[in-house]
Amino acid sequence: MRKPIIGGNWKMNRGTPEESNQMLERLIPLVKDIKSVDIVIAPPFTVLTTVYEILKDTKIKIAAQNMHFEEKGAYTGEISPIFLRKVGVEYVILGHSERRDIFNESDALINKKLKKALSIELKPIVCIGEHLEDREAGNTKKIIEYQFNETFKNLTKEEILKTVIAYEPIWAIGTGKTATPEQAEEIHIFIRELLKIKFDIETADNLRIQYGGSINPNNAEELFNKKNIDGGLVGGASLRSDSFFKIIKAAIK
Ligand code: PGA
Repeated sequence: MRKPIIGGNWKMNRGTPEESNQMLERLIPLVKDIKSVDIVIAPPFTVLTTVYEILKDTKIKIAAQNMHFEEKGAYTGEISPIFLRKVGVEYVILGHSERRDIFNESDALINKKLKKALSIELKPIVCIGEHLEDREAGNTKKIIEYQFNETFKNLTKEEILKTVIAYEPIWAIGTGKTATPEQAEEIHIFIRELLKIKFDIETADNLRIQYGGSINPNNAEELFNKKNIDGGLVGGASLRSDSFFKIIKAAIK
């Protein structure tokens, strides 16, 4: 049995201590008895320590939205994964489509970051997904397979098992256009096939694969009811405690 995982990616939307405090003080009592779902919040770097202080006695974990692949050095404006570990961060989102598309992050770069994260025991949430043109041209699986092979290059079975994969069709992110549960499930099954070929059946069965892209309280349950969807990575609807809580509840099996 895979434990569902729900991530709330605040992106660049909630970055002050007041905003973080307000949202989380409401969320904490709502989720305090939920044990069957892993809950992760990914705030901007500016509030990681604030969020750590707020969440430290709860089961909610913290993710960073990005990291650098080196531990230290002359990289102005970048954040070392070691710094993240030191301020209580447990997860890191890698390869989000906004990083790939706006900041030109390649599969090779994401692979480098992924290996570094694994080497210092930061748990990666790695995003893969196709553009609308790819889907319309019937190339979704081809793109997913390519990203999968390049992003997870030279990983051992032990390493990949520490990873969470987020399938995020780019056309569904922030657009209000969610993939149908069937469309999402089809790609989740395909990713499990790739895991089986590259690793083995045990890896394919045990690795958690989240869906992401315009999840909201109305569509969450139908998506999470699919056998191969292990929760979700939520952007817009994670900014408010009430909608995020409803999505978390929808993941309880
Ligand atoms: P969205 O974002 O829920 O606002 O579509 C999802 C994501 O970027 O992970």
